[in-house]
Amino acid sequence: MSTTTAPARRVPASAPVTAPTPAAPQARDWWRRAVVYQVYPRSFADADGDGLGDLRGITSRVGHLAALGVDAVWLSPFYPSALADGGYDVDDHRAVDPRLGTLEDFDAMVRALHAAGIRVVVDVVPNHTSDRHAWFREALASPPGSRARGRYVFRDGRGPGGDEPPSSWRSIFGGSAWQRVVEADGTPGQWYLHIFAPEQPDLDWSEEEVREDMLETLRFWADRGVDGFRVDVAHGLVKDVDGHLDVHVEILDTGIEGGNHPLWDRDEVQEVYAQWRRDVLDAYDPPRSAVAEASVHPDRRARYADPLGLGQAFNFDLFACGWDAGEMRRAIDGGLAQMAAGSSATWTLSNHDSVRHTTRFGVPPREGVGSQEAAKAWVTSDGRDPVDLDLGLRRARAALLLELALPGAVYLYQGEELGLHEVADIPWEAVEDPIAVRSGGEEKGRDGCRVALPWTQDWPTFGFGPEDGALPGMRQPAWFGAVSAAVQDGVPGSTLELYRAALRRRRELTTADDALTWVDDAPGVLHLERPGGWRSVTNLSEVDVALPAGELLLASDPAVVAGGALPPGTSAWVRVPGDDGR
Ligand code: NOJ
Repeated sequence: MSTTTAPARRVPASAPVTAPTPAAPQARDWWRRAVVYQVYPRSFADADGDGLGDLRGITSRVGHLAALGVDAVWLSPFYPSALADGGYDVDDHRAVDPRLGTLEDFDAMVRALHAAGIRVVVDVVPNHTSDRHAWFREALASPPGSRARGRYVFRDGRGPGGDEPPSSWRSIFGGSAWQRVVEADGTPGQWYLHIFAPEQPDLDWSEEEVREDMLETLRFWADRGVDGFRVDVAHGLVKDVDGHLDVHVEILDTGIEGGNHPLWDRDEVQEVYAQWRRDVLDAYDPPRSAVAEASVHPDRRARYADPLGLGQAFNFDLFACGWDAGEMRRAIDGGLAQMAAGSSATWTLSNHDSVRHTTRFGVPPREGVGSQEAAKAWVTSDGRDPVDLDLGLRRARAALLLELALPGAVYLYQGEELGLHEVADIPWEAVEDPIAVRSGGEEKGRDGCRVALPWTQDWPTFGFGPEDGALPGMRQPAWFGAVSAAVQDGVPGSTLELYRAALRRRRELTTADDALTWVDDAPGVLHLERPGGWRSVTNLSEVDVALPAGELLLASDPAVVAGGALPPGTSAWVRVPGDDGR
């Protein structure tokens, strides 16, 4: 355990940025009901024309984010990286990838976002570094047993000459989870653990230096005005490697044996987050927020959302659902239970690791296979397998209204406000995702949701970069122009205008009361009532259903009218007279 004492309340060294100042108590608790927009920086907007999105590109699009009405942005990694895993292979946690800008660009971006009332959440990747990180290079140059190796998980191999990996564990991205190194004298040497790609060596969190360094990283960004952190692989940091080398664990098999699994979700990991809360997050005023990316059994999720730890955790249950009322109802009820532990519920339909839900909801269900898996198989078919893209978009628009009607925080993924579909036909030679690269063609991976955003119809980058700029490595498909932000801007009924209207309405309707009451009136329908006298109705059945009588506040389809029918694949918000006691 750490012996560090809590530092005095910190003030940014050069006070480069000021936090947005909405009235208390929201200033401390803003994250509970926030709509957070995930920016994948390398494919958001390219200001310098090198074909890669950058920080000045984000600053140039603050107007879009403000008009959308989001409360915060979460930036996926923008740190120096060889991009072996889209930036989640971090060379230096306290720097900006020079291709994406400078620390001054970062400060200017934070200032512009704060001036627009938008908070900033950055991704931290504590489970591993990249293999180009100074620590890892030092470990390679140092002998077995050295302090430098002790920051990572180096072990001797098994069998004659140590030629076999220390255990049979498989990496999440395919192949062995162990990689052998060549020692300084040129002989084959020890092996290091990498739960993800070989370019992402796992850190050893039993080392005090590793713990202290991440505290410094958190302070570094908090001092620059960052409002919160998204914590990558939050359930993976603490491991019991040596006690289990002879046990075959499928690394993918998360959520089992909560608390005792050798690699995942060990109880001790909460000590790490308690220290973060005490020594960093709560040492700032207002306190910095944190949200855990933890793929754990639902019963264990609340640990990561503990107010004495990270405070909030992603819930991927809704994200895993197909277009099925029963499945979604269970996911929502489970997500609401998270509030009991003093945190907020969280909802998400898409992120940079999933097939865009706009497409996913149009992929026919497959017997015995979850919606995410069925959609991934569609991507691997290069989009040749059957799909109904119009139906997918229709349902995605309805799902937005359902999601935004729920109490808690909502995490949106860039491009979903345009109704963007997954790009499945990226040529294999352009594919970047290690999942695809390491699968030998069995999986196409996650690149299809990471293609550069279309801002305008202007050829050749659809406004992603300057006209004479370089093209993004993964080319945008021709159909991107027609769904670009400029084409949808101000157009009634467009998906962009639906998002803007829904976020605006949600802000007006949301109160401090997180109650939700189900109205069970028809099979295949998710009908719920919220405090303040309004309801959300989503029709997941195959037939029209009646809308409750009242004022139609918003509908996912322009054809829906007050007092009329709600067709399959649509949602509406209705204010029902008498619901609020009037
Ligand atoms: C989760 C991130 O969301 C994903 O993109 C990444 O590949 C892994 N963690 C490893 O960092």
